Amino acid sequence: MAMLALKPPMGWNAWNTFGHADIKESVVLETADAMVKNGYLELGYDTLTVDDCWMAPTRDENGHLQANKERFPHGMKFIGDYLHEKGLKFGIYSDCGTMTCAGLAASYGFEREDARTFASWGVDLLKYDGCYRAPGADTVVLYRRMGQALRECGRDILFSGCCAMKDVWKWMRTSGAQMWRVADDILDSWKDIKRVGLGAFGLEAYTGPCGWNDTDMLVVGVDGKGWVGGIGGGCTDVEYRTHFALWCMLGAPLFMGHDIRNERPEIREILQNKELIAIDQDDLGIAGYRIADNVFAKPLYGGDIACCVVNEDDVWHYYSLSWEQCGLEVTDSVKIRDCINHKDLGIVKRNMTVKVEPHDCLVYRITRI
Ligand code: GLA
Repeated sequence: MAMLALKPPMGWNAWNTFGHADIKESVVLETADAMVKNGYLELGYDTLTVDDCWMAPTRDENGHLQANKERFPHGMKFIGDYLHEKGLKFGIYSDCGTMTCAGLAASYGFEREDARTFASWGVDLLKYDGCYRAPGADTVVLYRRMGQALRECGRDILFSGCCAMKDVWKWMRTSGAQMWRVADDILDSWKDIKRVGLGAFGLEAYTGPCGWNDTDMLVVGVDGKGWVGGIGGGCTDVEYRTHFALWCMLGAPLFMGHDIRNERPEIREILQNKELIAIDQDDLGIAGYRIADNVFAKPLYGGDIACCVVNEDDVWHYYSLSWEQCGLEVTDSVKIRDCINHKDLGIVKRNMTVKVEPHDCLVYRITRI
């Protein structure tokens, strides 16, 4: 068995934009093409996950899960083959209850069959939701059951637990899951970015190589459209940039959620910031932690430290930065690299003061000299 998810998994998930109503084969194939053509695959966004509503409401006559034939006329193995041909991985969705969150056929009581079905379709990731749990069923056991079924199915399938129950980070790893949602669904709004992203600081001891806290799919570029866009209303590009920086500081899985086929250049620039992706994907896999109000730090392989300042407020503020909380001495000098504007800012002795505009953030990579 391979070690899956040594680094935070990356890719795209259909839900945030295409929701219940609009997920279908053509969207998946065109998105796969765009992930390759627009340069995402080469940056590490390698998994395309089809979320809820790919399946028919009921199983077939042999008890197997089956695709909704109107939406996926060639079935799901066809999708797996297409994605693999492009060099992408195939993510799919099911639920540990009697129905998925959207009310369609789910895996309760069929865990082994479904794991084998997914393996036969070439699935590489299973997002496993927690709606409609059978009365009296123990949720922890339901996840362990699917974890066991996946280990026995003959294919390496990354197990992505999606069950925002209290303290999920304390037990989900025992199911074999490599990532687990730590909050309820994100919407396309600044309020939700803060709720989910800032809310995950404090849980850093529970995340790392092969088992990651999942702060949900990104809403960068959703632009108030589609499923979570329609509800959340949208964000400014500054807010999207802060959102992306926070997820990278957390060492969170990076699953995009916008319509890549029709993205604005500003959005691509945010999501393809190699310096931020390197912080997310750093070899150490230590998550960022809070060192002062609105200031976060993430130790990196080789001794650098990523430092992020977020202004949650609606007016600008000055923030004072120093790094003793991360293990540096008060007398240390550091070299500063601005990872958002891609500039070297020179050498700083002891500490520095920075001005941050409303809802904006700074991300510095600091190297002790
Ligand atoms: C839950 C999950 C979402 C999405 C939907 C699908 O709400 O948290 O991410 O998968 O179900 O119905």
